[in-house]
Amino acid sequence: MKSLLKTLTETYGPSGHEDAVRKIIQKEVKPYADEVRVDAMGSLIVRKKPSVAAKNSKRIMLAAHMDEIGVIVSHVDKNGFVRFASNGGVFGRYTLGARIRFLNGVTGVVGFDKLEAVDQAPALNKMYIDVGATNRSNCPVKVGDFGAFERSYMEMGNRLVAKSLDDRAGVVVLIEALKSIKSTPHDLYFVFTTQEEVGVRGAGTAAYSIDPEIGIAIDVTGTGDTPASLKMAMELGKGPCVKVRDPGMLSDPRVVEWMINTAEKVKLPYQREVLLMGSTDARAIQITRAGVMAGALSIPCRYIHSASEMVDYEDLKNSVKLLTALLSKPVSF
Ligand code: CO
Ligand code: ZN
Repeated sequence: MKSLLKTLTETYGPSGHEDAVRKIIQKEVKPYADEVRVDAMGSLIVRKKPSVAAKNSKRIMLAAHMDEIGVIVSHVDKNGFVRFASNGGVFGRYTLGARIRFLNGVTGVVGFDKLEAVDQAPALNKMYIDVGATNRSNCPVKVGDFGAFERSYMEMGNRLVAKSLDDRAGVVVLIEALKSIKSTPHDLYFVFTTQEEVGVRGAGTAAYSIDPEIGIAIDVTGTGDTPASLKMAMELGKGPCVKVRDPGMLSDPRVVEWMINTAEKVKLPYQREVLLMGSTDARAIQITRAGVMAGALSIPCRYIHSASEMVDYEDLKNSVKLLTALLSKPVSF
């Protein structure tokens, strides 16, 4: 799982340009899938049909997003300096001093206009990317080009650090769950979605076509376990989180109960999640068509939307186990 995570996080997939990530996933899931298709928005839809008959068999959509936050070039000045806008939730405090890699392979460093307050991160429109150009015509990127943080994967014991663990960590968990499910009473759709970071767009359209009875997003969630962090219950290494609420959605109580009962039955650690900022694909699934029972299995993650996001390996393994347990047995509702 670690080497796949390294490969996935060292691949670039800014929102709207997830092709390279999708190619890797496609190869991994093919031997385990009954059907594989790519929809018009670019989401990869992998179906695993029911293998055992059961009364409470459901059509279940699982979603992990392939895209990552990044930037888009908005202007190149006469000296070849590149101005940019965010493509997803890019924060100034994490962008200062970063390196950006564009889809054409060009890399650049982020610089900034003179600082008004030395200890404050400037707004993104006071920053630029220096790609080594000296004028507009020798600048190797143009308006409309997409880029993302450049950063390599590393391991610090059980703590794994990389860019785009939001949501390649979820992608890996979903792939490993698909591989480990021996039999299922359910009609399962493993969906690797696009454009989550710009407003859960790919999950909404995929859910419309699948028309699931239950939807679960697998994504990262913030923690409250660092110095002076927000007062939140989630911690790294304490198990997968069962989402109860985030600002974008209220999980269906039946789904929450199902996830918690299953974790207790198979003796896996889990945490109850109330997230104070952000949302996931589950929001889009829940409000598609006439509404869907939805919830989320979240992976605790520090420094979300930085180039060095951090997760715990045990949490990843336990997330795979919980998902496998959930999908292998009939539901009680
Ligand atoms: Co995100
Ligand atoms: Zn995410």
